[in-house]
Amino acid sequence: MDDLRQKYLGLIAEASDEAALEALRVQAIGKKGEVSLAMRELGKMSPEERKEAGPRLNALKDEITSALTAKKAALGDAALEERLAAEWLDVTLPGRPRAQGTIHPISQVMEELTAIFADMGFSVAEGPQVESDWYNFDALNIPGHHPARAEMDTFYMARAEGDNRPPHVLRTHTSPVQIRHMEAYGAPCRVIAPGRVYRADYDQTHTPMFHQVEGLAIDRDISMANLKWVLEEFVKAYFEVDDVELRFRASHFPFTEPSAEVDIRCSWEGGTLKVGEGDDWLEILGSGMVHPKVLQAGGIDPDKWQGFAFGMGIDRIAMLKYGIPDLRAFFDSDLRWLRHYGFSALDVPTLHRGLSA
Ligand code: PHE
Repeated sequence: MDDLRQKYLGLIAEASDEAALEALRVQAIGKKGEVSLAMRELGKMSPEERKEAGPRLNALKDEITSALTAKKAALGDAALEERLAAEWLDVTLPGRPRAQGTIHPISQVMEELTAIFADMGFSVAEGPQVESDWYNFDALNIPGHHPARAEMDTFYMARAEGDNRPPHVLRTHTSPVQIRHMEAYGAPCRVIAPGRVYRADYDQTHTPMFHQVEGLAIDRDISMANLKWVLEEFVKAYFEVDDVELRFRASHFPFTEPSAEVDIRCSWEGGTLKVGEGDDWLEILGSGMVHPKVLQAGGIDPDKWQGFAFGMGIDRIAMLKYGIPDLRAFFDSDLRWLRHYGFSALDVPTLHRGLSA
């Protein structure tokens, strides 16, 4: 019995993890463990021998059990100590430098737009940048021979040999999202669709990729008056001025009737733009009442529903608001430019806090 005692107390003291302890427990006091087998031998002993050996075996079993428990606790403490040592953190160290990246002005302006229009009940829709000929043109009442197709300087996707279907295009405007949204959600609706658009054009005021935001509101009795109010609210909120004057100029788009281009009153005195005063006019968007054929193409009954739509250049209004002179710089990825014109990631535009505060 003393041998057993020596053996197991020694082994337990040396065990290096819980699995080893468990193996020892089974080996010593498990059903077929050495101590358990010795207990079974008690039956073969004389009553005198049993009287003496029985309590000693029980005491041995208890002793091994408590040695196992104690060792298990000790191993746990050691593991915790080790973790605490490894995960030690000096909270008195100086903070790490702030992240170097900035939010691109276009992203910032998109967030601003979204906040302003969301406040007027508009949700945000998206569509693909590689668009079918149907969504980009036909469904918007721009048939194959229409001059607007040529005017848009469209990028066409390559076609597989022998494929005679009209090629897909890089969308030339965000207006195809109107059709996709009508198809998916029907009327009434109120959405904006900001995103990238493409035209083969490159100079100081044109880049082959730029950004637009489409607006679409359809209901039973939506009118140009609603359009005017929404745009006025938008321009005031966006340029953070109390008053603006909008000028609607008759225009033509195949997908709206009537159509209007919208200018805002401004001044360029001293080389800086002021919105809402002065004698200059600044064109910011195209708009109009959605053409009945367009409603039809989107699966909406033009005898029951009507609506307005507009399309605005995001890059342009970003340049105007933040005094950025050259459009091309937006897409040069010049770090110096990005640091200068970029926004902190924490400057999330909200209406209650002020858009660009
Ligand atoms: N899609 C037009 C453009 O790219 C803008 C527009 C949108 C005009 C919606 C009227 C209505 O120029």
